[in-house]
Amino acid sequence: MSGQRILVTGASSGLGHAACERLAEGGATVLACARREDRLLELAKRWPNIEPHVLDVSDGGAVDRFCAALGPLDAAILNAGVTEVGPFTDSSAERDAQLIATNVSANVRLARGLRRPLQDGRLVFVGSMGGLVPLPYQAVYSGTKAFLHHFALALREEWAGDVSVGVFAPGGIRTEMTDVAALKKLDGQLADVGDVADALLAFTASTGALSVPGGTNKAAATLSRVVPRSWAAKLMERIYRES
Ligand SMILES: NC(=O)c1ccc[n+]([C@@H]2O[C@H](COP(=O)([O-])OP(=O)(O)OC[C@H]3O[C@@H](n4cnc5c(N)ncnc54)[C@H](OP(=O)(O)O)[C@@H]3O)[C@@H](O)[C@H]2O)c1
Repeated sequence: MSGQRILVTGASSGLGHAACERLAEGGATVLACARREDRLLELAKRWPNIEPHVLDVSDGGAVDRFCAALGPLDAAILNAGVTEVGPFTDSSAERDAQLIATNVSANVRLARGLRRPLQDGRLVFVGSMGGLVPLPYQAVYSGTKAFLHHFALALREEWAGDVSVGVFAPGGIRTEMTDVAALKKLDGQLADVGDVADALLAFTASTGALSVPGGTNKAAATLSRVVPRSWAAKLMERIYRES
């Protein structure tokens, strides 16, 4: 992807941060977006080909202004996302709204704004295995990712020939998102963020529709197409409750 101009949201930590560093090392110009300016400035200090852009993707007006000012892009990786782990009733309506604004509304708005700069380019949404299989104790998150999968694959057909759209659906990754007490017992099953970033960039360089990285996740994704979703949800409920 050397010489390409690529936008990455959620660039300040985890998967987005690792993807930005790999892209910069490979010679791409990276537009790195997130809210935490200090993290973005650190990235830009290390890599002169990373442009820091402070952007709260849940602020619709800011997203519109940002997209309107963009020149042509070769690719965009819409990776920013948040979750809430625990019983649905322990959270709040405000937290639900923030989750839906960040994981759903922001990506829909960004897709609309990025259509022009991405002519003949590639648009990748970062979904989740939680978009394929219902996740009890991450019910709102799982719902937002299921939305994203359908949205991405529908858009892929509408925009065929103009923008190549795909959805990348990883399983658990060791990042800030999973660094919470409720998931500590699952730590041994989490993937290394660098390995997942490599898979994300390989998928971005392709024209694929949907990618699930990792052998075990691929097997689970295949199984999820034949096992009733209610069974899968029951199994996931037990795994999370016992973790
Ligand atoms: N970790 C996992 O197990 C896992 C599994 C499957 C899928 N995923 C998906 O992978 C993606 C990256 O997650 P991660 O694990 O790397 O999590 P992470 O380390 O918590 O990173 C999340 C990124 O999203 C950004 N972000 C959150 N809210 C934002 C907002 N309103 N505006 C702009 N940026 C915002 C954060 O930046 P600021 O806070 O600086 O804004 C941060 O850079 C997410 O879409 C997640 O759902 C993660």
